[in-house]
Amino acid sequence: MKYFLDSAILDEIRYAYENWAIDGVTTNPRHVMNSGKPLTTLLDEFASEFRGVNNFPISVEINPHLDDAKTMVEEGRKLAKMSDNFVVKIPCIESGLIAAKELEKEGINTNVTLVFSASQALQPARVGASFVSPFVGWKENSGDDTTQYIQDIADIYKTYKFDTEIIVAALRNGKQIVDAAKAGADIVTCGFDVFRESFHHAFTTYGLDKFRNAWDQTKTEE
Ligand code: E4P
Repeated sequence: MKYFLDSAILDEIRYAYENWAIDGVTTNPRHVMNSGKPLTTLLDEFASEFRGVNNFPISVEINPHLDDAKTMVEEGRKLAKMSDNFVVKIPCIESGLIAAKELEKEGINTNVTLVFSASQALQPARVGASFVSPFVGWKENSGDDTTQYIQDIADIYKTYKFDTEIIVAALRNGKQIVDAAKAGADIVTCGFDVFRESFHHAFTTYGLDKFRNAWDQTKTEE
């Protein structure tokens, strides 16, 4: 399973790429806002940082105010021209799905986002979107089931041999990463701290402390 970093902070992305072998990046308008940089500056930085790095998709969301397919396609083309790494992130609404179909036909990779049900995940796959992003955290906050719906999407894609990769998004902890992996996600996208915390366990720290003590008390010579 691949790990994508859900962030628009270049220092975090660079760190996670160099040290954690992340496989890609997803961004959204909130991440861009939090970066404190204008979108164009940020996109230039991403493009130049990863120029020549193959198989490293960076999802960049189109203007969320757009609601007609034609303008979405135009914006998608512009993004795709800026970098081979850019994947056009499009909301799962009817016009977005029409735009995704057109962009994929032109060889531009898309990520259909804001997906909250298995029925919504079908059409992105049917029109050949490269990625689909079903969200977990937001649904769990509302008390919805999330494990079954990710499993359903993975099963449906397998049955119909859809190539669209499933990016399970809005994950908040290691348990949700494991649930996504068990359900058959191709990719999970998480914030920096969620990944970092998932690498640790309190017993590892506890055990390491015990082993360090033992190491220090071990005789070095007979
Ligand atoms: C995924 O592609 C989104 O960028 C992301 O997971 C949105 O959710 P969040 O910002 O609440 O984590």
